[in-house]
Amino acid sequence: MKLEIVILAAGLGKRMHSSLPKVLHQVAGKPMLLHVLETAKQLNPRKIVVVTGHQGERVEALVSALNDPVIECRRQTEQRGTADAVRAALPSLSEDSTVMVLYADTPLTPLADLQRLLETLECDQAQLALLTCLLEDPTGYGRIKRGPYGSIVGIVEEKDCTEAERRIQEINSGIIALPSKVLFKQLPRIDCSNAQGEYYLTDLAGIIASDGGSVAAVQADDFELLSGVNNKLQLASVERIYQEMQAERLLTEGVTLADPTRFDLRGTLEHGDDCFIDINCIFTGRVVLGSNVSIGAGCVISDCVIEDNSVISPYTVMEKSHLKQRTTIGPFARLRPGNTLEDEVHVGNFVEVKNSHLGSGTKAGHLSYLGDSDIGQNVNIGAGTITCNYDGAHKHRTAIEDDVFVGSDTQLVAPVTVRQGATIAAGTTVTAEVPAGALVLTRPQAVYKAGYQRPRKEKK
Ligand code: UD1
Ligand code: CA
Repeated sequence: MKLEIVILAAGLGKRMHSSLPKVLHQVAGKPMLLHVLETAKQLNPRKIVVVTGHQGERVEALVSALNDPVIECRRQTEQRGTADAVRAALPSLSEDSTVMVLYADTPLTPLADLQRLLETLECDQAQLALLTCLLEDPTGYGRIKRGPYGSIVGIVEEKDCTEAERRIQEINSGIIALPSKVLFKQLPRIDCSNAQGEYYLTDLAGIIASDGGSVAAVQADDFELLSGVNNKLQLASVERIYQEMQAERLLTEGVTLADPTRFDLRGTLEHGDDCFIDINCIFTGRVVLGSNVSIGAGCVISDCVIEDNSVISPYTVMEKSHLKQRTTIGPFARLRPGNTLEDEVHVGNFVEVKNSHLGSGTKAGHLSYLGDSDIGQNVNIGAGTITCNYDGAHKHRTAIEDDVFVGSDTQLVAPVTVRQGATIAAGTTVTAEVPAGALVLTRPQAVYKAGYQRPRKEKK
């Protein structure tokens, strides 16, 4: 089967109350249109046509950034209804294909339903296949009208429904598939004589049926996944459904989530066995966890690799860093991009590390800034240590070799090197190379005054 997919993404999205086009609003950190494009790609179509309109340039920019030869855009100049939107795509479609129409504002559209829709179209030799669903409350959706023998005779939009039609519980998801030659023939017959004065794609069902063509339907199991996003409330509920699905998958794969309803993955998460994730963590980009990794509450982790048996304590924020085995990080640590932390490194509370390499067994327990540094093995970084890496114009590196002891409240004015085994006394400002094994200290003479009287506030 030659498949061509049309994705409607031209709508105004008025009810979002946003300057961002509706289809660019994100679910799990990714624009809704991209979710639909990814699902569409899995059907291996020869072509995908995205119909753009409202703020078309922004939507087209996102599509062209994908640099995918299968995907192209067509502009619908005025939003005059779903049939008019599909008309804008016609010049991209061929005479001998199967066309499927998807909506960009329905990001959770399940692949399995689409596959069943295509199978049904083919097996039934139908002129049109619709994805429908039975709903307790069909309000807002187009209703599927069936004839006395159960065959589909048309779709009525809610605004055009009679009292009796309003009670029909089988609704139109909007997703259809049909041979392109049927589309080319019947689309021009659709008019706009309805309550909204729009060209309804859904009129195809009635037109084809009255021509004696067969209209098939596939009923979706889970309509939640086919619910469109028209406002922020629906966006939030789709986000939760998506997160729940991801949480369920991870739980099934053996990750322990303290609470699956308080888990957010906006990217991908790979993992070994026995990982634990406490509540309210956010993962973005590509995160890889080894085995037996524990992530404390409230951590925000982006594009990191964390190897086996590491423990990340609560409220740690880290990005683009590689943590080897048995590292212990946080609570309240911040790893900015570009770090490699070797086995058994410890980075404690209120420590910021950026663009640095920390050798195995090295510890920075408290309140420090380590930027642009190369630190060896088994180095002790005392509380309040600062690498002064910036002179106001350029960044410079600090090198600290193995087994160095850096006392508390030390400033290392980069570029500077501390050789192996050296000791830096507390409160020292290091401005030149410290030789191996040496002690360095800058300590002004202390002054002691006996019996000193502190100033006092006068009583009124
Ligand atoms: C549509 C269906 C309805 C179905 C419902 C399911 C029609 C006439 N009605 O109604 O039967 O139950 O979806 O969610 O098709 N769009 C354009 N250009 C336009 C108009 C719309 O690209 O001129 C796009 C929108 O961006 C959106 C999609 O088409 O992605 C659906 O349009 P929308 O106006 O939301 O249709 P509904 O009223 O929800
Ligand atoms: Ca809609």
